[in-house]
Amino acid sequence: MIGVAIIFALNIDFSSTPKITANTAVSDKNAPAPKPNPDKEKWLAGKDLFKANCASCHNPKSDGVGPPLVGVTARWRAAGSYQGKTGEQWMRVWIKNWHDVVNAGYKYGIDMHNSRPAEMNVFGGYLTDEKIDYILFYVESPDLNKPVTAK
Ligand code: HEC
Repeated sequence: MIGVAIIFALNIDFSSTPKITANTAVSDKNAPAPKPNPDKEKWLAGKDLFKANCASCHNPKSDGVGPPLVGVTARWRAAGSYQGKTGEQWMRVWIKNWHDVVNAGYKYGIDMHNSRPAEMNVFGGYLTDEKIDYILFYVESPDLNKPVTAK
């Protein structure tokens, strides 16, 4: 990672070396455009959404009212497909409304529900797929000041 960051920094240095030219208009045009970092935007959006909606019960890495969430996608994937949905899809159903998972009889969800006395909020349609993408992106890489590229 550090090596990659250094190479990245060096690249910026090289590309921003001023070009010697008489025509400043052309020079401006050739100046490197600021590089947007979509991963960082996504991570920050996820962090905000997590803080607003989930952090009262969850911490990405440590146990709280609810379980730690880092690695949660892999846990539901490993729980397997059921009724035409993958484990990951069931996890997304859970995040919107855990009742739907329990009522459908998905074993991992039933065991999860029975594992703690507390119950999770029902979020329903307020949590769009896009918001859930952001939250998962954050909780799956909570340590990073700068997020890595999504898997
Ligand atoms: C009011 C407390 C509460 C809030 C708020 C809450 N949860 Fe939960 N969550 C729980 C509890 C408790 C469980 C464990 C299941 C149970 O006991 O029903 C859980 C379980 C989960 C699981 C399954 C964990 C695993 O290891 O498989 C996921 C995923 C999850 N929550 C995601 C979220 C997300 C994302 C948010 C915010 C959008 C959120 N939760 C908000 C309490 C909460």
